[in-house]
Amino acid sequence: MNVGGRLGKAFRRYTDEHPMTCHGLSLSLGGPEPLDETFLRRLKLFLNDHQIRCYSEHLSYCSDDGHLYDLMPIPFTAEAIAHTVERISRTQDILGRQIAIENVSYYASPGSDMPEIEFLTTILEQADCLLLLDVNNIYVNSVNHRYDAREFLNALPGERIVYGHIAGHYNEADDLLVDTHGAAVIAGVWQLLDLAFERFGVFPTLLERDFNLPPVDELLDEVQQIRSIQDRYNLTDSGNDQPHTPERHFSTRTG
Ligand SMILES: [Fe+2]
Repeated sequence: MNVGGRLGKAFRRYTDEHPMTCHGLSLSLGGPEPLDETFLRRLKLFLNDHQIRCYSEHLSYCSDDGHLYDLMPIPFTAEAIAHTVERISRTQDILGRQIAIENVSYYASPGSDMPEIEFLTTILEQADCLLLLDVNNIYVNSVNHRYDAREFLNALPGERIVYGHIAGHYNEADDLLVDTHGAAVIAGVWQLLDLAFERFGVFPTLLERDFNLPPVDELLDEVQQIRSIQDRYNLTDSGNDQPHTPERHFSTRTG
């Protein structure tokens, strides 16, 4: 936002020519401070002006009195659900559209009264928002917090998935994986993506890589691997009732 001049024009060319999605880092959906409604109003103008198809944020918080620039875990409690649902609903009302929330990785679970899957699905349902499904985060959390990643995936409301993330992680120890986006995607995470497409139909999927960048050919090989799995489920009748049509999720809400 607020970029003009030569760079603003270059960005405008991209958004004119390509379907775009935006991924936020600073909304702090679970945070204790009031929502930044000034930011949201400016964001609405930006999203509409550039015809951004989908806006996503993390199911976490990242601020109190100032920004922490990290994604902190929301407690899995009924109180936190009510708080977060209200903030997502307010966000959607201001933006005039559904947003997608991303399941995040977490390393501590403060005051948890329920499993992560119950926390996530309750918020999706009550806020009536969409899901940005990060399969690497499921994998990492399943090892760190000792649950079955496939069971977790199977319990998700597939009709809410609007797009996906896949990434590599760091092996700190057998029972501690760190979601770094700094390594190649491992076989177990590819298998989860495969299972997600099989179960929910194909959805657009983004490879996340933040540092430790390999030669671009290696990155493109991973992008190609996403395409290959997508093609496999696009070409075969996988037994789904109907093919996934993400476009239906991108429509704006009224009111
Ligand atoms: Fe992600």
